[in-house]
Parts: sequence; C-alpha cells; structure tokens
Amino acid sequence: MRRARARARANIALAKYWGKADDARNLPAVPSVSITLDPLVTETIVTFDDALASDRFELDGEPAREAEVKRVTKLLDEVRAKAGISTRARVVSENHFPTAAGLASSASGFAALAGAAGLAAGLDETPAMLSARARRASASAARSIYGGFVELGAGGDDELSARQIAGPEHWDLRVVVAVTAEGRKAVGSRDAMGETRASSVYYPAWVDASKAIAPRVAAAIAARDIEALLPLVEQSFFAMHAVAMTASPSILYWQPGSVAALSTIRRMREAGVPVAPTMDAGPHVKAICLSDDADRIAAELAETDGVLRTIVARPGAGIELEKV
Ligand code: DP6
Repeated sequence: MRRARARARANIALAKYWGKADDARNLPAVPSVSITLDPLVTETIVTFDDALASDRFELDGEPAREAEVKRVTKLLDEVRAKAGISTRARVVSENHFPTAAGLASSASGFAALAGAAGLAAGLDETPAMLSARARRASASAARSIYGGFVELGAGGDDELSARQIAGPEHWDLRVVVAVTAEGRKAVGSRDAMGETRASSVYYPAWVDASKAIAPRVAAAIAARDIEALLPLVEQSFFAMHAVAMTASPSILYWQPGSVAALSTIRRMREAGVPVAPTMDAGPHVKAICLSDDADRIAAELAETDGVLRTIVARPGAGIELEKV
C-alpha cells in the first residue's frame, strides 16, 4: 500500500475566472487572481491499495456521490498513467472549515487530491506540475497549490499552471465572509459558466474586460495598493455576476441576504472604511479589507438581515504534503 496526505486551503478570487477557452482541457478563457485562505483547510489522504476493485472516495465521513467519484477517478487515472500503475485508490477527504461555512471546497479539495495522489503514487513533482493537474480537474484548484497571492493565466496548453505573485506574509489583508444561506448552490460553476458563454450577449465583453482587470489586480497586490485594488475587485465581481445574470435562462446567485450584505459594505465604504465586496457561484458575500478593519466589518455584517454568521479569513500557506 502506498499512502500520502495533503493539506490545501481554499482560495477567493479577486479577479474572477468565469468561462473556458477549451472545455476538454479545462483551460480558462480569462486570467484570474486569488488569495489562498486560512483557516479554510481541506485534508486528503490517498491510499493506492491492490485489494481495491474500484476507486473509493469518502468526503466528510460519507461516501461521495457518483458524479464526484467520477471526477476523482479522472484525476487518479492521470496519476496512474504517469506512474505506470493500475492500482485503485481510497481517497478520504475532510474539510476543516468552520462548521457549515457555506463555502465551496472544490478548489482546496482538488488541490489536495492532486498533491496527495502524485506523492502516494511515488511521483516526484514540482508545484507547477501539481497545479496543472489540479487545474485540469477544476481551474480554481490550480491556485490553491500556492500560498498567499496567486494568478492563473488564460488559454495556453495542457501544462497551464498557476503562479505565486507573493507569499502570505506579503500583505495582511482579510476576507470577511458573510454566510447568507445553508446548503448546496443551485447551479454549479462549471455548468453555469458554460451556459453563460453559450447565451449571454455580454460574454465577449466580459472576456475582454477580464483580460484588462486581472493584470491590474496583480499589480495592485504587488504594490500593496489598497486604493487601487478595491475598485478592481468590485468591478471583476459585478462584471462576472452581470454576465451570468444575462445568460438565457438567467443565472442569479444573489439572495436577499446577499443584497443586504452588499449594502452594508457600500455604507461602510461611503463612511471611509476601505472595503470592497466579492461573490462567487453562491449567495455568500466576501468583504476584502485591511486587518485593522476586519472586526468591525464582521460585526456590521453579522448585524445585517439575512446574514447567518461571519468568518474572518487571512492569507494562508500553499499545499503541505507528506507520506504517511
Ligand atoms: C466563481 O474552478 O469551480 O469561483 O474549472 O469548471 O471546475 P471548473 O470551475 P471552478 O470555477 C470557479 C469560479 C469562481 C471564480 C474563481 O474562483 O475564479
């Protein structure tokens, strides 16, 4: 039996990825920039075991659903082909997120799987190789291989991987998450971005705008320029949701609590607090801010109608791997 463990963290995009240049190879149509976040950790153990007839995948103590097992097997098949083995694997994955954080775990999940599977199979790989493997499974996962501030390009080839802009110690930003609903999101990001590309009249404008915004986000991060960063974060987020809303049928992730949280953030910004909102493929709102302001932003969001709870996250480390 060959076994390895990985810990990887979730990430939040400040410049959003939404839309693919190539579906089969899972290449993004637009560049993206993200922060890898503590304490949103997924831990995954992969064991290649000759006694198994098929791959097994257990997520948070329960056998995973068939569609999830399929995506895991696809990644494991890549690893087996590269290592020249045919042994099936047992994958046990746990999200150590604050209870019911309501946050997507696919980025941290596929990043941890990409790393643990490679090491368990005996491969000796660079972070870029792990990032490309994670990206082929879920593009946002490519960014979770690295800690701190990370960018992922658009297009390219099968080896496209993310790249670190700066480590977690570079800038003490905070992401205050306002959780606004329980349960799974209605339309997963993969289907939703495909429907957006197929039917929104604004999709070409979204792609053009994103190519301009992402490098400016990366430059603002490199310069630790909060005044430059915040309007870009807001613009990328609203443009992504606008293009999704104008798909046919429309894709709308916002709930009443999301709109209320966006209003709270706007009110605080108008009162002089440097803060900008972002949202992903779900109803939760994330406020990007400086560490000194995080507690009062969290307090105001917690008081907002429709906000169930808040979590304050900070820049965290990249993937951690060990043989066990
Ligand atoms: C809104 O990485 O989940 O979170 O590549 O199809 O697996 P696939 O999509 P996924 O999309 C993430 C979209 C997003 C924005 C972002 O993280 O950049």
